[in-house]
Amino acid sequence: MSITGRPQDHRSFPASLAGGSDLAGGFPPGFLWGAATSAYQIEGAAREDGRAPSIWDRFVARPGAIFQGQTGEVAADHYHHMEEDVALMARLNLRAYRFSISWPRVLPQGTGPVNERGLAFYERLVDTLLAQGIEPLVTLYHWDLPAALEDRGGWLVRETAQAFAEYAEVVARRLGDRVRWWLTHNEPWCSSYLGYALGIHAPGMHDKQLAIHAGHHILLSHGLAAQCLRSLLPREAQIGIALDFYPVYAADERPETLAAVQQADTFRNRWFLDPLFHAEYPELLFSTLDVTPPLIQANDLAVIATPLDFLGVNYYSRMLVRGAGAGSAATTSGNPSYEVVERIPGASYTAMGWEIFPEGLEVILTRLHREYAPKALVVTENGAAFEDHWHTGEGVHDWQRIHYLQLHIEALSRVLAQQVPLKGYMVWSLLDNFEWAFGYSKRFGLVYVDYPSQRRIIKDSGQWYASFIAAQRR
Ligand code: NOJ
Repeated sequence: MSITGRPQDHRSFPASLAGGSDLAGGFPPGFLWGAATSAYQIEGAAREDGRAPSIWDRFVARPGAIFQGQTGEVAADHYHHMEEDVALMARLNLRAYRFSISWPRVLPQGTGPVNERGLAFYERLVDTLLAQGIEPLVTLYHWDLPAALEDRGGWLVRETAQAFAEYAEVVARRLGDRVRWWLTHNEPWCSSYLGYALGIHAPGMHDKQLAIHAGHHILLSHGLAAQCLRSLLPREAQIGIALDFYPVYAADERPETLAAVQQADTFRNRWFLDPLFHAEYPELLFSTLDVTPPLIQANDLAVIATPLDFLGVNYYSRMLVRGAGAGSAATTSGNPSYEVVERIPGASYTAMGWEIFPEGLEVILTRLHREYAPKALVVTENGAAFEDHWHTGEGVHDWQRIHYLQLHIEALSRVLAQQVPLKGYMVWSLLDNFEWAFGYSKRFGLVYVDYPSQRRIIKDSGQWYASFIAAQRR
């Protein structure tokens, strides 16, 4: 095993940020301290053991789609480093690990014959996690639709929603006796809008209207799968979905800007939230996007609003918007009716160009509790890319990531003080990995991956997180 860095070693970052510090003890026992990944971003082994291509295998082959033409073909080669990676999680003192299952590994044609070898990999992963006392959180869909289903219409047809429920059933029957936490989808906003309207994610289409149709079928697939999971899994199973949220702020006081805030919030936060929790699309959605509503059949919204046990929250940053036409320092967001302010004087940014805004995590969690009241909330992703450097024999001194994590964890303790039923926090990501259109140019890991050697090096942030978790009550 090639792991360097000792979790007890704090010499390389400021003493004030050392593990435990003033945050220790403020979190409930049993809180799920974890890290997250997804299949296409880490697994590699794209053609092994019967796995068939997904829409991402196709999309990465498009010239210009991905930074330097990179692909997830090998990624962090987790498929072959699984035991080593779980050992790393144990060294980081993780109590939970969120990963996704690759649909085309389990059902290469999307429906029909099950690929035993694919399913066996996830079974081994779950068993290895449990043997280390690490709670698995399974995401069924983190963007890698089987290419065979894309050929039959992908998310633009209702049949794909049915196929997703069948896939959920296959996985639940195999892992349902051991996995307690289930997420149907990850960030359906991205699957829909980035994939079908902006064309920067698979399947790479450029039509807002198609994004609305895809979004509806993804929601329907969620509802059908949630019902199927509920009927198959033990009573204590926790069924949820992970959405991405951006609290929206006004850049000025103009009425156009206040209207823009409503539009941006509808588009970015409520598109999926309202159907899931209120069984209706938000009124402004279709006019904001200048599209027609999807084809909604009689029972769809009731299925979509199948009661959930928890809501997964992916949080990275906020949005600062202004009504169109008020200044030049803003850029459009792909949406014609408002502008997003990209650079705020005095603010700090990650390597993705995302503003560091920990207060937003508190704002979104308390709002979700107040306005949508899910039974429980889990932060299913939070983290940051920075320019990490590693040279043989040295550690990775990512003090900015430590600071980022500390500020966001502090926000969690304020949220808990307000009686919000928050159950866990997953850092994105366990490992450096394939950051979609950005390829390997952005590193989010607590653990550095030296891709040529596939060596793993625990960053100072990983050491900090390990110490922090160790200082918490179990
Ligand atoms: C959201 C996605 O779920 C994940 O796949 C991605 O890598 C991170 N955020 C960072 O962009």
